[in-house]
Amino acid sequence: KRLVVLVSGSGTNLQALLDAIAETGAGDYGAEVVAVGADRDGIEGLARAERAGIATFVTRVKDFGTRQEWDRALAEAVAAHEPDLVVSAGFMKILGKEFLARFGGRTVNTHPALLPSFPGAHGVRDALAYGAKVTGCTVHFVDDGVDTGPIIAQGVVEVRDEDDEGALHERIKEVERSLLVEVVGRIARNGHRIEGRKVFIQ
Ligand code: GRF
Repeated sequence: KRLVVLVSGSGTNLQALLDAIAETGAGDYGAEVVAVGADRDGIEGLARAERAGIATFVTRVKDFGTRQEWDRALAEAVAAHEPDLVVSAGFMKILGKEFLARFGGRTVNTHPALLPSFPGAHGVRDALAYGAKVTGCTVHFVDDGVDTGPIIAQGVVEVRDEDDEGALHERIKEVERSLLVEVVGRIARNGHRIEGRKVFIQ
């Protein structure tokens, strides 16, 4: 299966996928990353792709008149690589109607909180501020809301008294990376089915 991964930052989730595919072999893992896309230049996620010899593209919002034009351009840039599955791993833009018309139902996102708690761009900070005793990460299919799509898998991470946002996020990312690698591999190898809010993968 062909994966396109979308990043906006350090790309450690992308790196986890690349390492798993390199160790397992694309054949046994069931997928290969054919391209990495971003909404901004100069991020470590793109450098990771370049070091791995993987095609990259950048689709910046400011290069387009409207958000809808950006969304269409992103969909076209992704479509050029003919993905079977799109993985949003730390991609910090909302995917719009045109993108979802083409890739909805096969776009996976990872979020550093236990959805539906603490959606949005500051899930780690919000859980910490709220005084949650456990938080975690969620891998879900993207729908037309913000972090509201059908949940595929979740991992629980305890919150420690001495945690600040960075420490907690790092601990979450350890769980998140292995959860994403496991889920993407199973979907790539065995396929998936979405029935309402329920996701079934073998
Ligand atoms: C991840 O925790 C992701 O869930 C959140 O931002 C982080 C991205 O990390 N949206 P990285 O870029 O994969 O290192």
